[in-house]
Amino acid sequence: MIDELSNLGWRYLLPTYRQALGNCYNSTTMKTKTTLDPIPLRAQFPALQLEVGGEKAVYLDGPGGTQVPQSVIDATSGYLSHGGSNSGGPFLTSHFSDEITSAARQAMMDFYNARRPEEIVFGQNMTSLTFSMSRAIARTWQPGDEIVVTRLDHDANISPWLLAAEAKGVTVHWLDFDPTDCTLRLDSLPSLLNEKTRLVAITFASNAVGSITDIKRAVDMIHEVGALAYVDSVHYAPHGLIDVQELDCDFLVASVYKFFGHHVGVLYGKYELLDKLTAYKVRPASNIPPGKWETGTQSFESQAGVTAAIDYIASIGDSDGTRRERLVRAMASIKQHEMALSEHFLTGATQIAGLRVYGITDIENLENRTPTFAVSLEGYTPKEVATKLGEEGIFVWHGDYYAVAVMERLGLQEKGGLVRIGFVHYNTHEEVDRVLAALAALAK
Ligand SMILES: Cc1ncc(COP(=O)(O)O)c(C=O)c1O
Repeated sequence: MIDELSNLGWRYLLPTYRQALGNCYNSTTMKTKTTLDPIPLRAQFPALQLEVGGEKAVYLDGPGGTQVPQSVIDATSGYLSHGGSNSGGPFLTSHFSDEITSAARQAMMDFYNARRPEEIVFGQNMTSLTFSMSRAIARTWQPGDEIVVTRLDHDANISPWLLAAEAKGVTVHWLDFDPTDCTLRLDSLPSLLNEKTRLVAITFASNAVGSITDIKRAVDMIHEVGALAYVDSVHYAPHGLIDVQELDCDFLVASVYKFFGHHVGVLYGKYELLDKLTAYKVRPASNIPPGKWETGTQSFESQAGVTAAIDYIASIGDSDGTRRERLVRAMASIKQHEMALSEHFLTGATQIAGLRVYGITDIENLENRTPTFAVSLEGYTPKEVATKLGEEGIFVWHGDYYAVAVMERLGLQEKGGLVRIGFVHYNTHEEVDRVLAALAALAK
């Protein structure tokens, strides 16, 4: 069947599909209204101009990493061509590197709404930062202490804690999610907490099924017993506003390559914790935050791109006001646009026989999910579906995407996981139609 479809091509089915579904994108009947126009924004992303077989490529692999605007590329090449140097030297190029770092810290402070730039720590990626922070935090644990991890998390917010707990004789409790809509069972969190609980590692949003966690509510419960809240916002960051002061979380991590920038991780930590905890560091390195947490030489060229990525997002929120104010407006319009894409996708997906969508499917509840859909298609393995779509220039992931606990809980780990179709703000309704048409063609 795959071969047959290969010959036929989804594009010939697109008009038929549209007719059959009555063109499910109709802006007047859609419940979700949006003002964001992705077309002029797309023009800023060179990679989005890529063609496969004479058609524009459709990037639906955002949850695995987004593309970058020209301004990010320019900032990076600007740094490299200007003359770079290590930080802290008494000469021009070294001052330049210091300025780049300071600007990137300021940008991330605005993005997270941190209280001060020293609360922003750069690192290689979220996984490395979490390994390093978990080792430091675990130094304070005693045998018999307890921690909580969740089944909705990416393994980067599970394994570092499991390994640290094992090393220190600490008991691990697992917070489950509801397999019917893949939302975290926050109601049962208090039953896992007590005065021995030292930390809860929790995801802001699932990179597999898109469910968003009410982090503020979770943090209140966690603080009730005096434990620390370590929040993974890697998947959430490109889709919604982060405000660490409002959330009151103790730590929060994200990776800039998921929000239109470089492969660099950024951790927020409350200053008093970053100051008090003992870091694994080399002797000459600074002993005050954030330097004590930033091991080795940082990627200055990436940091130049971090500032440009944040400025790009802020530009979606107009030119008035502070960068934080622009980011607040930008994230609101990104959210609206992505909810409209989700509504469009779900409306079409429910009409494709054999296509099952995991996670929240109620279009009245799109507020509580990102536009990331894990799906299965009867008669095909996830790898077959992803391969077929890939041949058509539609890029999606398959497997577990390191959300191992999610796939195990759904009983899908041994079956090759699921296909992940993830939209971001630069995706269009036409692209939703293309992936739906390709899936409909396979389902036929
Ligand atoms: C939710 C989530 N957490 C953590 C990670 C790991 O991030 P990094 O690649 O920066 O280590 C990912 C990467 O896909 C992710 O999606």
